[in-house]
Amino acid sequence: MAKPLTLPKLRAMKREGRPIVMLTAYDFPSARLAEEAGVDVILVGDSLGNVVLGYDTTIPVTLDDMIYHTRAVVRGAPGTFVVVDMPFATYRLGPEATLRNAARLMKEGGAHAVKMEGGADLCEEIARLTAAGIPVLGHLGLTPQSVHQIGGYRVQGKTREDAEKLIADAKALERAGVFGIVLELVTEETAREVTRALSVPTIGIGSGRGCDGQVLVYHDMLGYGSGIREKRFVKMYADIGATIREAIGRYAEDVRTLAFPEERHAFRLEETPGEREAAAPYGTVPADRETENAAVSAARNGGGPG
Ligand code: KIV
Repeated sequence: MAKPLTLPKLRAMKREGRPIVMLTAYDFPSARLAEEAGVDVILVGDSLGNVVLGYDTTIPVTLDDMIYHTRAVVRGAPGTFVVVDMPFATYRLGPEATLRNAARLMKEGGAHAVKMEGGADLCEEIARLTAAGIPVLGHLGLTPQSVHQIGGYRVQGKTREDAEKLIADAKALERAGVFGIVLELVTEETAREVTRALSVPTIGIGSGRGCDGQVLVYHDMLGYGSGIREKRFVKMYADIGATIREAIGRYAEDVRTLAFPEERHAFRLEETPGEREAAAPYGTVPADRETENAAVSAARNGGGPG
């Protein structure tokens, strides 16, 4: 199995101008597919509040939610660097309480690093976490956990004054020890300036072409859900929501018209062939797992950046 990316390798990617690929994932299959496709970093984003749990904002997401989902992601992508979001109000509690919560995400969730939304005000807590061996990814620009304070999901860094504040925050986070910074919905010019001002990588979402890497939300890029519209900053690479809806519709139709199950889906008295499949858990056949792992390793070692 391929080994997860290390922080020195991530820094080297910035130096060498190799774009960093980050994608969110929230469960075993999404993580497994992301690893098989060779992403560099998986983010267990608290966007799971929106796309998986059906909340309007990320604010209701709990530490236990994040731990639960992170464990599944780490099982699905054992060869990928996994960052987990610290959810709303589990930091800015003072360095010791923040450390206790971040440590739970690492120890119980199995993540390699945590992400926190905010600027210079977080420096003391970031320094405490990094001193304790917890890598921290910063997050500036649109910070969805502060949506009520910001007054909506708006593009950030539009005036010179906003841009200067973002650059100052980014430099402060770098001094405090972050290994990178997510820039969300920041104007392209400002994101480029921030990226040039830092030695740690920036990962953009809705922040244009000047960042060291990009991140997208799994459900957004795949059209996974109902009524997902292509946002201006997202490229939709598939519309699996439509594919799933259509497939479920065909299944329902088959059950109602007795077209499923067919003879080949049924078992007979004293039948022996096919016992392995009969005993398999939902979704996988255990004997295939090793072949699958070997295929993942081969893909990553051949073309993947890991
Ligand atoms: O929660 C999340 O998925 C994020 C990304 C949008 C960067 O923070």
